[in-house]
Amino acid sequence: MVHIAEREVQLPDAVISKLIKLAAEDKSVVSLGPGEPDMSAPQPIVEFTKQFADKCNHYSAPGGRKELKEAIIKKLKKENKITAHPDNIIVTCGSQEALLLATACTCDVAEQVIIPNPSFLGYLPMFELFDAFPVPLQLHESNDWNIDPDDLRKLIDPKKTKAIMINTPSNPTGNVLSKKLLEEIATIARDFNLYIFSDEAYERIVYNKPHISIGSLNGMEKYTVSFYTFSKSYAMCGYRVGYAVGPKLLIDAMTKTHIYTTLCAPTLSQMVAAKALTIDDKYIESMRREYDKRRKVIVKRLNDIGLATVNPHGAFYTFSNIKHITDDSFKFAFHLLQEAKVAVVPGKEFGSYGEGYIRCSYATALPKIETALERMEKFVKKYKK
Ligand SMILES: Cc1ncc(COP(=O)(O)O)c(C=O)c1O
Repeated sequence: MVHIAEREVQLPDAVISKLIKLAAEDKSVVSLGPGEPDMSAPQPIVEFTKQFADKCNHYSAPGGRKELKEAIIKKLKKENKITAHPDNIIVTCGSQEALLLATACTCDVAEQVIIPNPSFLGYLPMFELFDAFPVPLQLHESNDWNIDPDDLRKLIDPKKTKAIMINTPSNPTGNVLSKKLLEEIATIARDFNLYIFSDEAYERIVYNKPHISIGSLNGMEKYTVSFYTFSKSYAMCGYRVGYAVGPKLLIDAMTKTHIYTTLCAPTLSQMVAAKALTIDDKYIESMRREYDKRRKVIVKRLNDIGLATVNPHGAFYTFSNIKHITDDSFKFAFHLLQEAKVAVVPGKEFGSYGEGYIRCSYATALPKIETALERMEKFVKKYKK
């Protein structure tokens, strides 16, 4: 007997995983697909991992280990200007789990969450899984992929809307929200008494623009759940450790749900994460500088070959317009892979308003990026309308 629940059957298959699989099977493919750092975790992190390997065979407290929460509190104060207590924090299996828990604990059936579109491909299915209703907030290339507060206001249903999702720096557009825009979004959340889910996974990967946490703005600690991860800044994706900070009542509810899902984030990863927060900043800074070097090359070349690309101020992605070739980003990505042996992610993966664009990741070594761009140039010349 095979029976799969309807809610799962309706979840979209991520095309990105098929593309990454195809790219991995063919050694001649250059992949600009991955959403994870290509660099190794900094050396001290590798050393801590070895050091704790024989001390981590027990479960941790569900909400997170004490010394990790203490280290997070210091980090939040220093880097995010957020004041938190241990009760405001939950440590999870990556920030993805924290996002899922927050959804489970805030949205009843058919309640609405406003989600920027295009945005991280994990958001839409997550809300759908819990029978919440994701309301797309269209972002525009002509507005540098910023959120327009007037558009946001218009989408709010005072009875049904429960939360607004924001992601700064953004995957896939690289947009970094300014303090002024964050203040306007904060005002809307206060006016309508809504949660802000602030996904700050790429907080340390910014270029010439500061990262600001909406949770640090006046009075916003009551409305904001902020999501952080060790995956990107510390190149620790495989450790699966992240955390959320928010109002105690919601964090309590998330912790209860977490007990029934994963019980606790991996103990070894938590031990290493606590130490990771104490390593010299130079390790993170050198990764950021490397991304910045690649960013300058890839953005210029993409624009030069006719794939218009808004300059990203954060994360490690470019989001390029392919509409002069085709409106079908899936077709573009599959042909590019088959003919030119370059893997990119179709923009539609990030929501309906991502159609007509492709995402390239520059979490890939510079010589590979250069090869990919040479191949893309020939492909674009051949197919442009
Ligand atoms: C914007 C964004 N948020 C959250 C995640 C989840 O990351 P993790 O679960 O590794 O913390 C990702 C992963 O790519 C992401 O791009």
